[in-house]
Amino acid sequence: EEKKVIFSGIKPSGDLTLGNYLGAIKNWVKLQDNYDSYFCVVDLHAITVKQEPALLRKRTIEILALYIASGIDPEKNTLFIQSHVPAHSEAAWLLNCYTYMGELGRMTQFKDKSQKLGESISAGLFNYPVLMAADILLYNTDLVPVGKDQKQHLELARDIAERFNNLYSPTFKVPEAYIPERAAKIMDLQDPTRKMSKSEDNPNGYILLMDTPEVIKKKISRAVTDTVGVVRYSEEQPGIMNLINIMSAITGLTPEEIERKYTGCGYAQFKSDVADAIVNELSPIQGKVKKLINDKTYLEDVYKKGAEKANYVANKMLRKIQKKIGF
Ligand code: ADP
Ligand code: NA
Repeated sequence: EEKKVIFSGIKPSGDLTLGNYLGAIKNWVKLQDNYDSYFCVVDLHAITVKQEPALLRKRTIEILALYIASGIDPEKNTLFIQSHVPAHSEAAWLLNCYTYMGELGRMTQFKDKSQKLGESISAGLFNYPVLMAADILLYNTDLVPVGKDQKQHLELARDIAERFNNLYSPTFKVPEAYIPERAAKIMDLQDPTRKMSKSEDNPNGYILLMDTPEVIKKKISRAVTDTVGVVRYSEEQPGIMNLINIMSAITGLTPEEIERKYTGCGYAQFKSDVADAIVNELSPIQGKVKKLINDKTYLEDVYKKGAEKANYVANKMLRKIQKKIGF
């Protein structure tokens, strides 16, 4: 029996955060054995906002190294860089013609980001969800493991797939989102009402995957909490709730188990344990990333093999789409 397909990616638009790791990569590692998996570094998505070329190139490779260092096996999965597979750009154009302006205008991520950017909103930023639909649909994807922030984009991908299937004949598999329970949305440490993101400009609000133990400890100890003073999993204590979610995603303990463990314990001790858990999780990964980064030949070998496999599968689907349209 053929394995089901998963597709997911991260854009190299900034250094990766604990949110990217717990919301995405850590789950990919768990899923990889049971699925035919495509893990992509989505550089075409990164340029929807301004990027510095040298930095973009460096981060693209770093993310690939991070995937491997986190435990994704390049022998068992297809690891590749999006721009190495031109079918993504071409399929995105085709699907653009089956997507409505109104649908894209309703995307909350676009609304948030365009508000911040003011005048300089690229058409690419507006069309981003169509490229994401192309990414997913090109591989007959069954499941897309993403954080909650991507749910709306995934629903649009499903709508586009269904629309195209209905207009012509069954072409695309209609993918499902796979959203982790606890790490669905890791929040900003300084403002736990918004998600932790590499795109934010307050460095105390996020933990980078390459942060040193000292920096991690400092950021967690300064995380915004409340005056309740009880380690409790409650919407009224969003800061503590976020720290419990982080602890839970790392250790596998449920929020209830964590509450019980910290009954009668002050925030300082709890925070110190959360920081230790993060450091223990990230330290071995950081060590491996540093080694991998120096092994350019190996990384090149991985992404070239990945591109070969991805190009083969994606081109077949692209041809199928073209034929249906009448090319
Ligand atoms: P970012 O939002 O940091 O720019 P991307 O858009 O590249 O990240 O998203 C890459 C993956 O990381 C997606 O699956 C996204 O859902 C996940 N992700 C990003 N931030 C978080 C977060 N704070 N909590 C959980 N998952 C997240
Ligand atoms: Na995101």
